[in-house]
Amino acid sequence: MATFQILTFGCQMNVNDSDWLANVLLAHGHHRTDQNAAQCIFLNTCSVREKPEQKVRSTVQQILNTRKQNPPELIAVLGCVAQQLGEDFFALSPRLRLVAGPDGLPKVPGLVDELLAEPQLKISLLDFTKSYEEREEGLALPTGPTAYVNIMQGCDNFCTYCIVPFTRGRQKSRSFSAIMAECRRKIALGACEITLLGQNVNAYGCDRHAQQARARGEDFPSFAQLLREIAALPGLKRLRYTSPHPKDMREEDIAAFGCLPALCPQLHLPLQSGSSRVLARMGRGYDRERYAELVRGLRHVRSDLALSTDIIVGFPGENDADLEATLSLMEESQFLSSFSFCYSDRPGARAVTFLDKIPKDLQHARLIRVQNLQDELQKQLLQQRVGTSTEVLLETPSRRWTRAGYAWQGRDPYGTLVHVAFEQEGEHQGELVAAHITEAGSHCLFAHRETANDRNDR
Ligand code: 5AD
Ligand code: SF4
Repeated sequence: MATFQILTFGCQMNVNDSDWLANVLLAHGHHRTDQNAAQCIFLNTCSVREKPEQKVRSTVQQILNTRKQNPPELIAVLGCVAQQLGEDFFALSPRLRLVAGPDGLPKVPGLVDELLAEPQLKISLLDFTKSYEEREEGLALPTGPTAYVNIMQGCDNFCTYCIVPFTRGRQKSRSFSAIMAECRRKIALGACEITLLGQNVNAYGCDRHAQQARARGEDFPSFAQLLREIAALPGLKRLRYTSPHPKDMREEDIAAFGCLPALCPQLHLPLQSGSSRVLARMGRGYDRERYAELVRGLRHVRSDLALSTDIIVGFPGENDADLEATLSLMEESQFLSSFSFCYSDRPGARAVTFLDKIPKDLQHARLIRVQNLQDELQKQLLQQRVGTSTEVLLETPSRRWTRAGYAWQGRDPYGTLVHVAFEQEGEHQGELVAAHITEAGSHCLFAHRETANDRNDR
């Protein structure tokens, strides 16, 4: 039996993959310990944006430097950067003996004993699987109130800036029965909120693998049907999903926000740019008008829907008017939050060959304009909620309570972090509480438990 530590970079998919890996390693009898003592160190990596390779190399170097006296027996690089650079990583250290891309991950726990028994052994798992591969279940540990469930892998879109189709392969939808089984299992283990995950989550069921399964007579619902099935599971109080693609947002997906009470009024809908010209060069499959129409359609069904987004500034050829188009669509869409990035070349992606690259300083100046506008929008939207009530799913004691007192934190249905004051210390994990919002922070809300007085004031 060995001791291990997992270091995770990147998106929720990676966080979820690392949780799975830890769980299965525990089920195999291994123990988690800290980075300075672990025999096995796993780096779960992400390559979607700048300099991931250097990040992995410097992390490995740092581990080797700080552990000269007791070096780890096994260092493994997993995930997208492993897929991208493969066995090149073996040159970093004789201790770095396992590289596995996203599709190789399910095999990793089963190889640990062998790798520890044979110190010269090096293994690389870089092949893409043809269909979604089911994974070993791991320990039935309590999950906490919120849980993630993967419903697909990979992406078929090839947006011109994106490395994902090269590191995660073609889109592969997971079987309906396996998804339902995992949702039921996580609910039984304590989850009352589930977030469905996929690189292009609302294209669920639209890939070749799903079509072949349907042809074999397997039950493969559409994305909206899947939402309906999961929303109806007993014990589930909240359902979310991330990240959908605007071009795959169908009428029935929009309608779901009006008819599934468990589906939270929150959607992360990556825009990338508000300029139709830039969107066309990005290969996004929608234009500014279509995106605006989607937002209007969504708000028609759920006027209080909280929208968030991803934005790339400084894409090759982007001019001042394109940036203005992004800023104006951000305002029109009233995004509650956004993640914004300067465009960077990713190996293999088509935009690498575009000649009209934007200088770094101009990219940064544009990024600041996007971020300033977003801060302003968020401030206004959060401020509007002061004096209203909401429902918060409490997750942990609050780390950020400004006044003397005690509080728990959790998210409201819109995905906003809310700190809820309590009169005395206690255990509240997993409770859904009615809360009255008293103050807006720059990225969160402050509240107290709703009282009869608050209700009368309304
Ligand atoms: N440069 C900058 N941002 C990128 N993203 C993806 N690829 C790139 C790139 N080459 C951003 C997109 C995507 C998010 C996950 O990362 O906004 O939605
Ligand atoms: Fe990348 Fe586009 Fe696929 Fe998203 S939809 S993962 S941005 S190729």
